[in-house]
Amino acid sequence: MSEDLQSLIETAKEARLHSVAPFSDFKVGAAVKTESGKIYTGCNVESASYGLTVCAERVAIWKALSEGERQFTELAVVADTETLTPPCGTCRQIIWEFARGATIVFANLKGQSEVFHIAELLPRAFDARFLKGKKVTD
Ligand code: THU
Repeated sequence: MSEDLQSLIETAKEARLHSVAPFSDFKVGAAVKTESGKIYTGCNVESASYGLTVCAERVAIWKALSEGERQFTELAVVADTETLTPPCGTCRQIIWEFARGATIVFANLKGQSEVFHIAELLPRAFDARFLKGKKVTD
């Protein structure tokens, strides 16, 4: 594991501490790195109207996109689980659409981690290519 990725995991761990998870008590942190080296963090934020809850990965990606970022190189996701926590289905779709090129690393608090690419997590993904007249840049 590169030092770079290891340090992104540490940043995601810190972001996890901001998690707003009073209902599940399941804290997740994420950190996404841009091509220029800037890092945006996210944590899960739960709503009393449960379905409005947003995952840590999407919070990080929304923050970055809303600041004008478009190119991402790495994404780290951290949760306190024995089996490493992967992104949910909704986040996989968003990662595919907005951070397709990023190396994804899942990690836990015990120092375990595993690296993936979104194509492994979301095969045959749907995206704008299927919408008539829309072009997607890879
Ligand atoms: N959650 C994330 O933030 N990311 C994931 O990859 C999986 C699930 C959050 C959503 C919710 O606040 C809590 O974990 C339990 O599902």
